[in-house]
Amino acid sequence: MTPRKIKENLYWVGAIDWDRRIFDSLIPLPDGTSYNAYLIKGSEKTALLDSVDPNMTHILMENLIDVENIDYIISHHAEQDHSGAIPAVMEKYKNATVFTSPKGKDMLINLLSLPEEKIKTVQEGENLSLGDKTLKFIHIPWVHWPETMATYLEEDKILFTCDFLGSHLASSELYAGKDPKVFEAAKRYFAEIMMPFRTVIRKNLEKLEQYEINMIAPSHGLIYDEPHYIIESHREWLFGEPKNLVVLPYISMHGSTKKMVEYFVDALIARGVNVMQFNLVDTDIGKLAMALVDAATIVVGTPTVIALPHPATVYAAHLASILKPDLKFASVIGSYSWGGKTVETIAELISNLKVELLTPVLAKGVPRKEDFASLDRLAEEIAEKHRKNNYK
Ligand code: FEO
Repeated sequence: MTPRKIKENLYWVGAIDWDRRIFDSLIPLPDGTSYNAYLIKGSEKTALLDSVDPNMTHILMENLIDVENIDYIISHHAEQDHSGAIPAVMEKYKNATVFTSPKGKDMLINLLSLPEEKIKTVQEGENLSLGDKTLKFIHIPWVHWPETMATYLEEDKILFTCDFLGSHLASSELYAGKDPKVFEAAKRYFAEIMMPFRTVIRKNLEKLEQYEINMIAPSHGLIYDEPHYIIESHREWLFGEPKNLVVLPYISMHGSTKKMVEYFVDALIARGVNVMQFNLVDTDIGKLAMALVDAATIVVGTPTVIALPHPATVYAAHLASILKPDLKFASVIGSYSWGGKTVETIAELISNLKVELLTPVLAKGVPRKEDFASLDRLAEEIAEKHRKNNYK
């Protein structure tokens, strides 16, 4: 790659990872990702903002081939997809000093064995002058690790937010504009990575909104040249009311649970409730996570395997529990053969979500007339709860 000019003396020097398909051995990356690093040349000093994933160190170093000197390396976040190439950069630029948050310092030492004497910590609001350009550091913890920070380039009014406000998207484009594809990728990214920290992230968004921002340059995905769109999107995801939506992850073994799910989905639609149904045999968990950003209710459709829920639904319930969406109601439907603790197990798995548990519907074997009547009752109860709360 070659460096890409954003402004005079400001360049994108990152790497595009077109082929990566999974992150943390958990998060699907259907459209790849990028690791954005930025080079800022001031009249007196030069700074590199973040690096790239260790696997792409060679690309970063190619991008820096004509850069004679780097004085400062700004590490917003110690996770290796941004910090992993810092040792190689320090090897080439022996006088470079790393600037990071106090928590970031410990992490960089622990994760990368960086020499302590080469790391300086920065406080909230602290400035670092590059001569004619000034970097202001803003601590924004828990997006999505505790040490995370952002940098505001004062003269150009550009905010570098690292993971925050980013998207996993490989693209030859540099700028997002209003491209809906970027905003869908950003929502997926928010759902999978940021949603568990919703409460603290609200404060961070409000903190960043106080700055006059011409551009937001995250460390994954495209640069937001019209930044109010991504800020508004995050406002909606962080502060918006749940929607009139039921998310229904399910699996069926012999078809009974599937029959119940199909009937139940029709019953909800007939009552004006929107539904997103996910067959866990083959579900993109990123899409399930995105649906959870909006949903007011989750209903898990599961057969009972021996005495417990099907493992696929245990996984889905656990995923919902760790993503911490703003769900208000939950229930379980499905078929069993001779007994078990299916409902109790699902309820326990999502006990941290503070949802109201609605009466479950479990059919013994093949669902019968009375089971379908119970599904109608549950659909009516959900529709009524959504209406009362004015979920749109
Ligand atoms: Fe993109 Fe938390 O690393």
